[in-house]
Amino acid sequence: MATSQKFGGDWTEEKMNLFTRYLDAYLIALQNQKFKKIYIDAFAGTGEIETSDGDQHLAGSAKRALASKMKFDHYYFIEADTTKAAELQNMVDEEFSQIKQTVTVYCGDANEMLAQIIEDVDWRYNRGLLFLDPYATQVNWTTLEIVAQTKSIDVWYLFPFSALERMLPNNGKYEKWEDCIDRLLGDKGWRTEFYKKDPQISLFDLCPNDPGLQTGNQLIKDANPEKVKEYILSRLTEVFPCVSKNARIFRNSNRAPMFLFCFAISNESKAAQRLALRIADYILKNK
Ligand SMILES: C[S@@+](CC[C@H](N)C(=O)[O-])C[C@H]1O[C@@H](n2cnc3c(N)ncnc32)[C@H](O)[C@@H]1O
Repeated sequence: MATSQKFGGDWTEEKMNLFTRYLDAYLIALQNQKFKKIYIDAFAGTGEIETSDGDQHLAGSAKRALASKMKFDHYYFIEADTTKAAELQNMVDEEFSQIKQTVTVYCGDANEMLAQIIEDVDWRYNRGLLFLDPYATQVNWTTLEIVAQTKSIDVWYLFPFSALERMLPNNGKYEKWEDCIDRLLGDKGWRTEFYKKDPQISLFDLCPNDPGLQTGNQLIKDANPEKVKEYILSRLTEVFPCVSKNARIFRNSNRAPMFLFCFAISNESKAAQRLALRIADYILKNK
C-alpha cells in the first residue's frame, strides 16, 4: 500500500469532492459517444493524501479516478518525485490490477510530459479530462495553450492564488518574481492591472531638486482577491473557448485565499461546451 503524502487543508477534501463529482458525471455523459476517453492527472501524487494538519486521510485524485464506476479508456499519471511515482505504480498494480494495462505512470515534469502525451494522442478520436493540481506555480502558461489547442480536453486547474499574491507585494517591488509571474500568467498585463502609481505625495514632489530623494514613481498594489480572480479567468478565456465563471476560491482557516479552482473547456462544439459547463457550474455553485 502506498504511503500518504502531506499537503493541503480543509479545501483539499472540497477540491477532491468537486473534482470527483465532475469526473463521474463526465464519464456518464460521454458513455455513448464514439470517442475514447482519456484521463490525465499531471500532478498525480501517490493516490493517498494526509492533510498538513494531519487531521484527514483521503484518497487522492489518482485513486479516485481509477475507482470510478465507469472507466476511462486510458489513464495517464505524471509525478515528478521518483519515490511517489513508484508508490503510485505499486498502488495501480496492487489495487487496480484488472485495469492496469490501461494505466501509464510517467515520472517527470508535468509541463514536459503533458506536451508529450498531447502530441502522442490523436485528438480527432479522443476526449480528455485533465487535472492540474500543483502545489504552487509549476504550471507554465504555455502548457495551458497546448492543452487548449487539442480542442478536446476539459481541464480543472487549481490555480496557486496565494503563491501569486505573495509575489505581488503591496509596495510594487515585484522585480525578482517577474519572470515567474509572466510564466504563470502568460503575459505582462498584470503589471498595469494590479498596480497603479502611488498617489501619495512623495518627498521628491516637495523637493524635486534633491537627487537623494525618491523618484516619485513608486507603485502600490491595486488588486483585491476578486480582481485577481477576474484577471485569471479573463486570461483563461483568451486561450479556452469556454471557461466557468464560477471558479471557487479555497480559503484557509484565516479566510485567506489559497487556491482558485478553475474549469475550462477546449472543445469548440457549442453542444459539448453547454453540457460540460452545465455539469461544472452545477457542481461549483452547490456546496
Ligand atoms: C498537491 S500534490 C497533488 C496530489 C494529487 N492530485 C492527489 O490528489 O493526491 C502535487 C504533486 O505534484 C508533484 N509535483 C511537484 N512538481 C511537479 C512537476 N513539475 N511535475 C509533476 N509533478 C510535480 C508533487 O510531488 C506532488 O505529489
